[in-house]
Amino acid sequence: MRGIVFFTDSAAREEVTVFDTTLRDGEQTPGIAFTFEQKIEIARQLSAIGVHAIEAGFPASSKAEKETVTAIKKLDLDSKICGLARSTKGDVDTALACGVDMVHVFIPTSDIQRENTIKKSRKEVLEITADIISYIRRHSDLCMFSAMDATRTDWDYLIEVFRTAADAGATIINVPDTVGVVSPSAMKTLITRINREVNCPIDVHCHNDFGLAVANTIAAVEAGASQVQVTVNGIGERAGNADLAQTVMIIESMYRIRTGVVKERLVETSRLVSRFSGIAIPPTQPVVGENVFSHESGIHAHGVLKNAATFEPGIMTPEMVGHRRRLTLGKHVGRHAVQQMLKDVHIEPSDPQIDAIVEKVKTIANRGKRVTDADLYEIAESVMGIELNHKTVDLRDIAIMTGNHVIPTASVKAVVNGKEHIHSAVGNGPVDAAMNAILGITPTKLALKEFNIEAISGGSDAMCHVTIAVEDEHGRIFDASGSGDDIVLSSVEAMVNAVNTINRAR
Ligand code: KIV
Ligand code: ZN
Repeated sequence: MRGIVFFTDSAAREEVTVFDTTLRDGEQTPGIAFTFEQKIEIARQLSAIGVHAIEAGFPASSKAEKETVTAIKKLDLDSKICGLARSTKGDVDTALACGVDMVHVFIPTSDIQRENTIKKSRKEVLEITADIISYIRRHSDLCMFSAMDATRTDWDYLIEVFRTAADAGATIINVPDTVGVVSPSAMKTLITRINREVNCPIDVHCHNDFGLAVANTIAAVEAGASQVQVTVNGIGERAGNADLAQTVMIIESMYRIRTGVVKERLVETSRLVSRFSGIAIPPTQPVVGENVFSHESGIHAHGVLKNAATFEPGIMTPEMVGHRRRLTLGKHVGRHAVQQMLKDVHIEPSDPQIDAIVEKVKTIANRGKRVTDADLYEIAESVMGIELNHKTVDLRDIAIMTGNHVIPTASVKAVVNGKEHIHSAVGNGPVDAAMNAILGITPTKLALKEFNIEAISGGSDAMCHVTIAVEDEHGRIFDASGSGDDIVLSSVEAMVNAVNTINRAR
């Protein structure tokens, strides 16, 4: 499917490189602190998906940060490894000592930041800029220079700063919208001017205080920026930075500009960072959110079943970003979606039976309850008066051991396809151990893809509702749920339901 031509401006490049700062600005998100191992895994993932440069950290900020940046450089990844430094010899030396490919040096240039933080005159900032960049270039081939708070800097002075940086040997100049206050049209005007008046490639770094980080980044690309700074899931200081997945997909799909990023791994990358950061991806998050390719309403589902591009962008498909399309069951569901979902698992109700199934689904959904695949098959069974398959797994016993000095372990006893099995597994916590134990006794290879827990009432005795999605060996995904006042047992119930649902669907 070809997209609409959104853009014809000739200032844009044919290729725009991606500079990821998840491990530096991203880690400055309040509440996020990645472990050393997590940072290594994130760096490997970013390199594997083709990110041009990774800002691995701010080496002068701590001994641990310096060690991490050094270790990431030693991984010998395809991406260039960059370390951040203030405009001091000490910071730069610490970054260089990590062996980085590129030093990213910054200095505040707006009056408000210059006067209140470093307390230097405009002239002194120009001198420091020239000296520090010359120093970096004597020791490194690559130097990125950032005029911090560029968008709030007097633009004539900003041009002078960038010219000084370029003359001193900066290999790329970065235009940070540090407090996220520029508008897309102002960003376009600013980058157009820098592009015309300064002889150096331009990079942009946008914050999301007004929700404009991605739009401003794209405006900069329209005006000729050759590199964009992003973070996975848009994490970063305050409201965060421009989101990697959104920025890449807009540049590639709408503007047809290459970024070198493997788009098919965007969802996987987003989920990895969500897991490590502890920040859930909202279902409505563009590109990677759970709802992006989900269709509930009858009209939409009907259209999508005929041609997915009726109610999807078309220039961005689930396959392109490593996502999946789903028809979901809710109060707006229509008979076409229900019929298709049942047909997928070889259940073929008559027309009046479909009407009855749809009615029941709507009744449950109207009570505010999510209707899972497992619920749908059960409704179909009762309406059609059939029993599709005996339980694959009939759980008899489960015991869980956890504490601050033991590895969480779960042991299950279950009748699987008529034969008794006992199995134990460990996990990161009691729920993980229990899920691993159930997966260990299932006859086919299944993988837990999603796990959501909702507390239904307030206190520590709250009722909880666990909804999971499990993938079978053919890549099909099924959801199921479990509820009760015990998180572990509710999760186990959801997993057993999922396993039996998958078996029904065979
Ligand atoms: O937001 C900002 O200005 C920064 C700089 C260090 C580039 O993060
Ligand atoms: Zn920033």
